[in-house]
Amino acid sequence: MSRESRIFKPSAEFKNQANLGSYATYRRLYLESVNAPDRFWGKQAKQFLAWRKPFSSVLKWKAPHAKWFTGGQLNVSENCLDRHLQTARANKAAIIFEGEPGDTRTITYAQLQREVCQFANVLESLGLRKGDRAAIYLPMVPEAAVAMLACARVGVIHTVIFGGFSAEAIKDRVNDCQAKLVITADGGWRRGKVVELKTNVDRALPHTPTVQHVVVLKRTGNAVVMTERRDRWWHDLMASAPITHKAKAHDSETPLFILYTSGSTGKPKGVLHTSAGYLLGTTMTSHYVFDLKDTDVYWCTADIGWITGHSYVVYGPLSCGATVLMYEGAPNQPEPDRFWSIIDKHGVTIFYTAPTAIRAFMRWGDDYVKKHSLASLRLLGSVGEPINPEAWMWYHTLIGKKRCPIVDTWWQTETGAIMVTPLPGAIPTTPGSCTLPFFGVVPKVLDEKGVEVPVNSGGKLFLTQPWPSMLRTLWNDDDRFKKQYWSEIPGLYFCGDGARKDKNGYLWVVGRIDDVLNVSGHRIGTAEVESALVSHPSVAEAAVVGRPDDLKGQALVVFVTLKSGMVASDALKEQLRAHVGKEIGSLAKPDDVRFAAGLPKTRSGKIMRRLLKELATSGDIKGDTTTLEDFSIITALKADEE
Ligand code: WT7
Repeated sequence: MSRESRIFKPSAEFKNQANLGSYATYRRLYLESVNAPDRFWGKQAKQFLAWRKPFSSVLKWKAPHAKWFTGGQLNVSENCLDRHLQTARANKAAIIFEGEPGDTRTITYAQLQREVCQFANVLESLGLRKGDRAAIYLPMVPEAAVAMLACARVGVIHTVIFGGFSAEAIKDRVNDCQAKLVITADGGWRRGKVVELKTNVDRALPHTPTVQHVVVLKRTGNAVVMTERRDRWWHDLMASAPITHKAKAHDSETPLFILYTSGSTGKPKGVLHTSAGYLLGTTMTSHYVFDLKDTDVYWCTADIGWITGHSYVVYGPLSCGATVLMYEGAPNQPEPDRFWSIIDKHGVTIFYTAPTAIRAFMRWGDDYVKKHSLASLRLLGSVGEPINPEAWMWYHTLIGKKRCPIVDTWWQTETGAIMVTPLPGAIPTTPGSCTLPFFGVVPKVLDEKGVEVPVNSGGKLFLTQPWPSMLRTLWNDDDRFKKQYWSEIPGLYFCGDGARKDKNGYLWVVGRIDDVLNVSGHRIGTAEVESALVSHPSVAEAAVVGRPDDLKGQALVVFVTLKSGMVASDALKEQLRAHVGKEIGSLAKPDDVRFAAGLPKTRSGKIMRRLLKELATSGDIKGDTTTLEDFSIITALKADEE
């Protein structure tokens, strides 16, 4: 484990203007949040959210099921929009959009509210009601936020499907949640090319009996097939939709969205988030971690298809009344300095991105950065995987000009909001550590028996107290919810990560210790890729492992055995990569395909991925092989390696 000792304190200048500018204040609030959680959260919920009806209880906790703010009612979209219209924010930019081709649009809070009202009316006119599900498969354009907020307004549960996912993935998700509606676009721009979203939807829909309507946004103007009665143009529906919509008040625990994420089985998990608690978590972290002010232009580069896009492009910052920059395309289109030119052009002050992107910028070379001033920046953030100290220092020096604090934020799809992070005006940072817990979060590093490990020893990371933005269950699968997160040590939330705490109590997250890989900050379940591979007619068995990768964090290495009569070839390798791309999406395409005569197994028939991982990483196997059933397989695998 790396030992990093450089400490970076927030400057007096940053502290003086910060929403929370002293360690003592952080400490006092933190202690209150964990010692008197009901009082703390009750107070915060009143301060940060606009309620239609006050809550009567703060938390009803019957592990692992939480109900926050019961008795209370609010509307999430009203919190993100309407409440700002009575203030000076009404005509402030809510979204500054830049498309990949360079087109720009600025949408004020008043305009955004109006569009959301219109689309809420569209949803109702299509027959959608509270509790129904709608799938959103859109590029990074303002209409993605409009669709999400309109669903929230009506009480329709949205499930956003990342635009990089395939038709197969759309089918699985839509069927799992029985969506009635799909909202998509003709296409989106990515590296100068059109991503044909509508075509993917068309491929999925013959296999999704619950879908009654498809709303299609015109973005790229490429030809699409419109199926009569089923498919309607966004602009046609909006043209006749009323511009006001009276938001209903929804109970605190009203489901807000389902977001599918990879786990340790072949089937993605539908993480369910609900209204008030989720909104409180994302609003408070946006305020304290990103230190949002009315003068900021805030840019989170995550796609709306991931939790980061939900919490820190849409719900959190808009609830705070911030100006959010949204960019549609790739960081290297047309040149590898696109992000830096966007920062200068729009005066971005807060920039939140992923370590894998930072490492790509490092590789592309400092000259692309040095062409731009970046003087507007005042705060930087990182999310998605551990940030290696080298990337941290580059980010600090080249992008932040040693002036901007870096918030390395640890959290997950399941946690809804940031859990462990520096508060930029209060907590000194050290490269590679996500530092200290946010309010109400109690992280513990435990051993197999549930005992806290000594300082600087590795263990499994648990959260031992419930928090408002926690997932409530897995859609249609409460058993899996209990088993997945709450059974490792009964009653404690296990996040799947390994970590250690240093002598200052700073947390160092090492990464996943389950069968989940983190490739370029995206979560990929090994079992999902394996089941995609064995669905190919030539594959008998498959095992997927991660190998450390300088750029992506982890690269996907797959070992396959072929059915008899099938012949290994480079062409087949390419076919298998393409097949995984078709089954899941390009992000899951293996970096390396290796054919093997057999896979190492235990006597009970379990594939020993640990050995394959070692082989993929070091080219050798030195680890414990005593439970291996047939040692000759290792000899054969090693021979293939050479
Ligand atoms: C997993 C969650 C929620 C953010 C986007 C990814 C890893 C995330 C950090 C960080 C170390 C991190 C963990 C976590 N991770 N942020 N700052 N330091 N690791 O969301 O797809 O739900 O993945 O990403 O392994 O469990 P996700």
